[in-house]
Amino acid sequence: VNDHEVLPLLDQIGHVVSEAITRARPELAGSDPVVRRSDRADFQSNAALALARRLRVQPADLAADLVADLAPALDPARGPVAAVERSGPGFLNITLAEHAVWAQVAARLASPRLGVGTPERGRRTVIDYSAPNIAKEMHVGHLRTTVIGDSLARVLDLLGAEVVRQNHLGDWGTQFGMLIQYLDEHPEISWRQADLAGDVSAVSALDQLYRSARAAFDADPAFADRSRARVVALQSGEPATLARWAEIVAESEKAFRAVYDRLGVLLTPEDSVGESSYNPVLAATASELVDAGIAVDSAGALVIFSEEVTGPEGAPVPLMLRKRDGGYGYDTTDLATIRHRLRDLKAHRLLYVTDARQALHFRLVFEAARRAGWLTDDAEATHVAYGTVLDRDGRPFRTRAGGAVRLTDLLDAAVARARAVVADRDHGLSPAELDQIAERAGIGAVKYADLSTSRVRDYVFDLDRMVSFTGNTGVYLQYAHTRIRSILRRAGDSHPEVDPELPMEREERALALALDGFGATLIEVSRTLEPHRLCGYLYDLARAFTAFYEVCPVLGSAEPVRGNRLALCQLTARTLSRGLGLLGIAAPERM
Ligand code: ARG
Repeated sequence: VNDHEVLPLLDQIGHVVSEAITRARPELAGSDPVVRRSDRADFQSNAALALARRLRVQPADLAADLVADLAPALDPARGPVAAVERSGPGFLNITLAEHAVWAQVAARLASPRLGVGTPERGRRTVIDYSAPNIAKEMHVGHLRTTVIGDSLARVLDLLGAEVVRQNHLGDWGTQFGMLIQYLDEHPEISWRQADLAGDVSAVSALDQLYRSARAAFDADPAFADRSRARVVALQSGEPATLARWAEIVAESEKAFRAVYDRLGVLLTPEDSVGESSYNPVLAATASELVDAGIAVDSAGALVIFSEEVTGPEGAPVPLMLRKRDGGYGYDTTDLATIRHRLRDLKAHRLLYVTDARQALHFRLVFEAARRAGWLTDDAEATHVAYGTVLDRDGRPFRTRAGGAVRLTDLLDAAVARARAVVADRDHGLSPAELDQIAERAGIGAVKYADLSTSRVRDYVFDLDRMVSFTGNTGVYLQYAHTRIRSILRRAGDSHPEVDPELPMEREERALALALDGFGATLIEVSRTLEPHRLCGYLYDLARAFTAFYEVCPVLGSAEPVRGNRLALCQLTARTLSRGLGLLGIAAPERM
């Protein structure tokens, strides 16, 4: 419990029902009170139905006993319960006391963290995300891992987890041989951003180098041989080759950094722990697995055969620990990441945010880590898989030429579209204001569209839909926030007093209960690793606010009603802004 934690009403009611269960039937002490939000009353408990079987009694009889034993809790002056009623075969309908609902609004408003608890405290969680490949452009495929991973990092951090971000950059591999060789043979080419200052295509200079080198490699066997020799030089740490490699990595990271800054993600240079950083421990990792009898020789290669997964002909599926030529690859590096994160970083939870197509890879890595004794019951490892971004025809999103769509181009397009939509509704914004709003709306739209789809599903990248002011979009939520902010500004941005003795309108109550559910939603996100649940929550909250605002005048009401309604406005604005922030999306003052 942190100083600012406010226990949600749902949990308070749970405690009240638990106590009644214990009073009614001491042998059932500790049972789940099974309390849910309900449309019929405020909350409903299904405990009697769930527990009657165990006692071999009628659910309705047990429910009647519980109603009787809840009576002492019905102290309307103090407790949160105003009324309890048995319904149906044994449900309990529970109506909250209005003062308890108002008190909840006041308590959350008084908390800098809106009363959200820290149930993840003490849990070290490593989140592996983004991980683009050096010397290649970040493309639409990197959008999802970057945006989802970043949102999870923010949510878990708010819930108190000790979050360790790891950007597993693809900064090692045979492609560097050809890149370095090509650069040496073509000293005249411009591949650094600085060489191309002012050129809009600057970010793709390195990408261009990659393509040229690749073309030469495929077309010219002699160049391919020289490139392979260069790989050997790199692996043996030949200084000039290594220096070139470091330059390429640094240049590429500069380009990634520009995208990260624009996207507003948390990743810093300190979070970059690329594949190459595991080089010094690969041999030790391999021999540890050999000594444990897990890794075996297979036609000169070192592999780990799965005991759980079999291939088409029933043959066990292998992880490649060391190739026949002695080289280490992606599988080995990931065995090293899991060993490092569990043993050295002492993580309790490992999240790998990558494409769903890597599911088998991670299943095998986790299995091997378990067999090696690195991954024990004290820790958990999860592949946070996500689906593919599709075009409007339902095919993987690509450029007309069939290439990967550069992330920068995609963001530019979204910002341009958002600018047009915002300009359409012009309220006398200056061009500079318009630019700033369009940037936030466009980037927010792309992130929200990505986060609001159920993670494992594919989704269609539809610019028009994502910058729409209506529907479940980032722009809608940003706009909802600006509308409430405008009400609060007109009220002089005061600190409203909440009078808990005031009666409550139905819409006020619905809004207050929605606001009370923020923390529970975040806990759901941390459990399921699905940020779309937070998106859905914020969308419902914005709609609950609209329903409230339609029937409850705020600025036009007199005190003390005005104060209570302003408190609801303020708590809604802060919850929307905080929620958008947890998705990595800006909540502007106006738009
Ligand atoms: N660089 C890889 C890619 O672009 C992703 C790496 C993900 N992380 C990991 N530990 N394997 O597909």
